[in-house]
This record gives sequence, structure tokens and C-alpha cells, in this order.
Amino acid sequence: MANFVPVDVFDLVIFGGTGDLAMRKLLPALYHRDGDGQFLADSRIIAASRSELSRDDYLARVETALRQNLHDDEFNDAQWQTFRERIHYVPCDVQVHDSWHSLTELLAGAEGRVRVAYLATAPSLFGVISAGLKHNGLITPTSRIVLEKPLGHDYDSACEINNAVGECFAENQIYRIDHYLGKETVQNLLALRFANSLFEPLWRRGAVDHVQITVAEDLGVGGRVEYFDKIGALRDMVQNHILQLVCLVAMEAPSSLHHDSVRDEKIKVLRALRPMSPEQIRSNTVRGQYAAGAIDGNAVTGYLEELDDGNSTTETFVAIKLEIDNWRWSNVPFYVRTGKRLPEKHSEIVVEFQDVPHSIFPEQRFALQPNRLTIRLQPDEGVKLSVMAKEPGPGGFDLRPVSLDLSFEETFGIRYPDAYERLLMEVLRGNPALFMRRDEVEAAWHWIDSIIAGWQSAKQKVESYVAGSWGPPGSSSMLDRDGRAWQPEA
Ligand code: BG6
Repeated sequence: MANFVPVDVFDLVIFGGTGDLAMRKLLPALYHRDGDGQFLADSRIIAASRSELSRDDYLARVETALRQNLHDDEFNDAQWQTFRERIHYVPCDVQVHDSWHSLTELLAGAEGRVRVAYLATAPSLFGVISAGLKHNGLITPTSRIVLEKPLGHDYDSACEINNAVGECFAENQIYRIDHYLGKETVQNLLALRFANSLFEPLWRRGAVDHVQITVAEDLGVGGRVEYFDKIGALRDMVQNHILQLVCLVAMEAPSSLHHDSVRDEKIKVLRALRPMSPEQIRSNTVRGQYAAGAIDGNAVTGYLEELDDGNSTTETFVAIKLEIDNWRWSNVPFYVRTGKRLPEKHSEIVVEFQDVPHSIFPEQRFALQPNRLTIRLQPDEGVKLSVMAKEPGPGGFDLRPVSLDLSFEETFGIRYPDAYERLLMEVLRGNPALFMRRDEVEAAWHWIDSIIAGWQSAKQKVESYVAGSWGPPGSSSMLDRDGRAWQPEA
């Protein structure tokens, strides 16, 4: 059973309190943690936004959102009555000087509590809100600020945000969210690597042939199309989530779980990402955009049809072959891909080991396959190790690939908490290990910027793919050229 330890009394101010993230993710996550008894009686959740709403209006919105976003058996009236007591609402236009007084009044006298400002707003407001908090005397020694992605759209804009927030908060007060780091299986990757001695000797060149990371989504861009069209899949998914996964797979063992030990190891990986020449960018990256197709038998429109002017070269799919220049990973490619409107929501990391050097077995019905360790992030979180085994029978020596398969949910028999539940608790406890440090964000942008510059100078085309397929043909050919294939085979 999980051990639920209450956190110190807090005031959590959510800027963007009426927005999608607050309603869909943050409030349901807080409802769960409250339900498990982790919040002391006086802790408050204070939503702030520009809308002139009464507290009752806001509570009505929250109730609707919880009913929509929780499973039927998770919402119950008694728990809601307790939870709603914690929730306050303050109208606040952060850009207007006089608009901060309700928030200031509400927080007055509560300086001793843990105070968290969660910025679920556009990043253009991160500097403004930080300055507003400072100007109104709302930053206490126990204050923390949480920044949602995107943290800029390139290295320069990320530095600008980091500088503006850094003028008001010390680095150890700033929590930059990458919600993938709050996913249970992502954390289990640390347990798998560093709580077992089995894998470490094999976790390197000489034993690993290559690594694949797939983050596939069946959903299209939908209502976010205007925003997404300006950024594309590389900035939306690779700069943060996928590079964080690369770091956790590739990093050396940290000396402890102390936040800086872990982050010091991750930054070394980001700095060791091999820069690519324009020629390498052309051959080692693939950009795709979904056209109309079908998913699960349902027809879906193409990306261009979702746009007002039907004209865009923004990628909704990207695949990259990247290399890490250090002793452990020299010449071991990491193939990463992510895309919208792929056949299913499916994210996994596959570590493929080298072939046996020489087969002693007669010609087989199933070719000998290399061992693969698959870490499934979603759905059905778990770990699978594929090995070759002999089929039972008195004659011959028939081999076939089989799996040692561990489903975490079956094994532990509990509901898997959403990443935000974990991350919010870590903020309230003051543990920044699962958040990105400034240097990580900037190093990731540095590498991503070089790819974008290569795409722009080469005018790299976006290849169309049919919605419901595994991306454009260029994605499979990129691996094919190296004699490899995506798992599961596209
Ligand atoms: C977000 C991206 O960071 O992650 C979205 O902006 C994407 O485009 C989402 O859909 C995927 O998250 P998850 O947890 O559903 O895999």
C-alpha cells in the first residue's frame, strides 16, 4: 500500500485558475491527494484569473470539471464538500497594478505557510506574474513558483523567461514542470536501472545495439491547432518529454537521489548530444504531417483541414536518430519518434541488445531475435523482456521469441496516480528532483535550435502520412538504412 504522508499547511495559488490545465489536470489531482488525507485542515487552494466570478460560480465550474474528469466511482459528495472548503477564487488581471489587492489581502497573515504560485498561464506572463508577486510583497522564504511548459520557443526566449523569473525567485524556488517526469513508469526507470544490478553491466555500447523511444498519440491537434501550428512536434514533445526520457535512459548513476545529483547527470547527457551537420540533419531527421485517414475504424480529417487557411508546413510527427558522444554510448544510436494521429496512444522505450555472435541452432521457423527490454510508459505501464525460448516438444529444436512480462498495475494492484498528483506533492514538499533545472532547459533548446536551423536552411520538407498509420515512409526508411526497424514494427 502507498504511504500517504500529509504535507505542511500550504497556500497554493493557481494563476490561470479557470483554464483547461487547472480544470482537467490540477484540480482533479488535488482532489485525489486531498481524498487520501494528505492535506491538513487549513491548506488552501486559491484560483486566480481575469474573470469576475464569485466563489460560488467558480466552485460550480470546479464541480462540473471534477465530474467530467474523474471516473464515476471517484467523485463522491462527502469528499467534494471537504475539498470545496479549501477552494477560494480571486479575480486578478496580473497585468493591472491595482488588480492584485484581493489576492494580497487573502494571503496577508499567512506568511509562515508554504506558498506556491502555479503558473498555468501563457509563458508571456511568467515574468509579469513573478514581478507582480515580488512587487506586492507576496514572495516569502518558503515560496515556490511552478512554471508550465512551453518554456520559450527557442534558446533565447527560454533565457528571457528564466532571467525574468530569476530576478524574483532563487533557482531552488523555481519548479519547471515536465509532466513526463511525474509518470510512474518514468520513475520506475530509475528503480529498474539503479535498484537492480542485472542491467548495469549490459547498459552500454558493446551490449546494447540501439535504443528506441516512441511517444505516439492517436489524438489530433484538435482545439490547440492555432497554438500548435506555431511550434510543431519537435518543440512540443522532443525538446522536453523525449529528451528527458533520453536523459534517464542514458545518464550515469547519480550518487544519490538528491535533486542536484540527478540533474547533474542529466545535464551531462544533454551536453553530450552530438551536434548534427546540415547533411546529417537531412538524413537523420524526418518531419511528417497527418492527412485524412481513419483511427480505430473512425474517419478523421487531416491537419490542414483543421486550420483556418488550410496552409501549413508544421510537423505533427518527427523522428530523429541521435547520438550521444560519451564512452558509454559511443556508436549506439537512439531513435526517437513522436506524432499525432498515429494508430494508438502508446509510449515506450525499447533497449535492443546485440545479436548473438554465432547461432548454434539449425535454421528456424522464427529467426533468432535480439533480446529487447521494453519499458511501457502508457498504456498498461510495465516492463517486458523478450528472450528466445525452445518450443516444448520431443523432436527438433524449435525456438521462438517469448516475453517475460510485468504489468505494474496487476502487480501492485492500485490505481496509478496521474503525473500531476506526484508533481504537485513534490512542489508542496519542496523537492525539485523531478523538475527541470535552468541549465537543462537551455541545453535542450540549444540542441533543438540547431535542428530547426538545419530544417530552415535546407527547407526540409514535411512528408504527409495517413492518419492512423505509423508516420511517413521516411521514418521507417531511416531505420531501414541502418538495418533496423521500429518496434512494434510499423
Ligand atoms: C503535452 C503536449 O506536453 O503532452 C501535448 O503539449 C501532448 O501536445 C501531451 O498531447 C501528451 O501527454 P500525455 O501525458 O498524454 O502523453
